Amino acid sequence: EKGGFDHFMLKEIFEQPRSILDCMRGRIYPELGQVQLGGIKAFADKLKNIDRIIIVACGTSWHAGLVGEYLIEEYARIPVEVEYASEFRYRNPIITEKDVVIAISQSGETADTMAAIEMAKEKGATIFGICNVAGASIPRLTHAGVYTHAGPEIGVASTKAFTAQVTVLTLMAFYMAQQRGTISDVKMRELLTELETVPDKVQSALASNELVKYIAGEIKDASNCLFLGRGSGFPVALEGALKLKEISYIHAEGYPAAEMKHGPIALIDEQMPVVFIATNNSSYEKVISNIQEVKARKGIVIAIVTEGDKKVKNMVDYSIEIPDTDEAFLPLLATIPLQLLSYHIAVMRGCNVDQPRNLAKSVTVE
Ligand code: F6R
Repeated sequence: EKGGFDHFMLKEIFEQPRSILDCMRGRIYPELGQVQLGGIKAFADKLKNIDRIIIVACGTSWHAGLVGEYLIEEYARIPVEVEYASEFRYRNPIITEKDVVIAISQSGETADTMAAIEMAKEKGATIFGICNVAGASIPRLTHAGVYTHAGPEIGVASTKAFTAQVTVLTLMAFYMAQQRGTISDVKMRELLTELETVPDKVQSALASNELVKYIAGEIKDASNCLFLGRGSGFPVALEGALKLKEISYIHAEGYPAAEMKHGPIALIDEQMPVVFIATNNSSYEKVISNIQEVKARKGIVIAIVTEGDKKVKNMVDYSIEIPDTDEAFLPLLATIPLQLLSYHIAVMRGCNVDQPRNLAKSVTVE
């Protein structure tokens, strides 16, 4: 049932080229420059004049929400707020009929996310769901939604469900942009043509497995680890840190790279591994100066770089290449080596990767 893999988590990491493809199937039309999302089609007109989107979720799904924020604001030009469901539900948030709430949940059963939906619904918002488990409680509570179609996720640490959530949010951002006329046909065709190549590029990113395993062996005894990124690399860093702490029990933190100098830099010494998302995109040069700050303090730097990169490679201790892509799809590729890194470290430390201590696959209590 693990398909030849030692753990469900590794199997699910390797399923991602397929799960991302399944998630896009029948939804993108690159030649036409069109996205179709049958699940929210009835609200296509509504999307033309909404004031705001509020994304509610917990854990890894909340990280997907942060990626969604970048994409929706960039392409559809709608203001987005991303909220922890548990915090949102206990405030007295301002919600109107012109708000759309997007609830993200792999299991579709998370208690706090369900309560946040119920509250927003009472106040008249339109609720969309992004869920993996068909027919779960959350899809039944929402007005409309888009399934992630990642297939059953058995490993407690979310991997393929995360990349599928990010894929759906990418499609939603493009769909909303299409309804609102904030993106040109030419640009849409270009983006969708590139998006179609992402499953193959995820496959190439998986080829780093042996190298990542080697790096894991070098840093497995660390007691702390930092993950840094900028732009949509920031939520990728948060997700990398969460994966590492939940399955290997190494204390890890994700930070926006520029925030490092406002505190976390004090932690850096020759024992501290620092993982950077340092791909060649709009924040490349800025990330390079952050890497210099860490190297000047003798931190051990592991960088996720774009294929063919030389500049970062020459500065860091270890680098892991991922294929080049449009910045919009970077999180889908940069996440892959981080999943593998936490997996190998956890295995080397003798941890139960599929069922980490104290964690449950679905959190049905608040
Ligand atoms: C982390 C993880 C959790 C879940 C969170 C929300 O790997 O699995 O952080 O993401 O409990 O669960 P769902 O998405 O089912 O609402």
